Amino acid sequence: MKDNIVLIGIMGCGKSSLGKQAAKRLGMTFVDMDARIEQEAGMTISQMFEKYGETYFRDKETELCHRLSTQSGLVISTGGGIVGREENMEALRKTGRIIFIDRDPEIIVKTINAAKRPLIRDNPQRLFEIHQQRLPLYRKYADLTLSNNRSFYEAIRRLMAEIKKCSKQ
Ligand code: S3P
Repeated sequence: MKDNIVLIGIMGCGKSSLGKQAAKRLGMTFVDMDARIEQEAGMTISQMFEKYGETYFRDKETELCHRLSTQSGLVISTGGGIVGREENMEALRKTGRIIFIDRDPEIIVKTINAAKRPLIRDNPQRLFEIHQQRLPLYRKYADLTLSNNRSFYEAIRRLMAEIKKCSKQ
């Protein structure tokens, strides 16, 4: 049964804040994949990239996708790079509906905390390039797209409405 909700989208698009609030309202369990990986590894993602390289982090991410795909009742906020491996998306979509949170990178770049994100830490403008590369993948995997270019409150209201619509189908 597809009763997990999986949020995908580029860094800073609002996956974690929307996911946390949606889970609260739905009485579901919120999982922030980045936070879970950090907690299990006992180090931050930046430290992981520095010490062991990006592939090490990506393998942890894939392994967590498989574990989460055996559970239910979850709202999952993924890392922006989750779409880089088809295997991740195949696992997550087995038990989840995929929602793409689509936020304009021009808006994101003004507010994002780049220091915490190794891929853009030295050059936040790289976000535009990453966005361009990944947009086709976010679109490809999305069961539904939610644009998030205005307020949080408007986005959460529309997200809840979409989730309710889906659950009736
Ligand atoms: C990444 C996004 C980050 C985190 C890591 C790599 C990416 O997650 O997983 O820094 O490849 O886009 P957020 O999307 O939560 O920032």
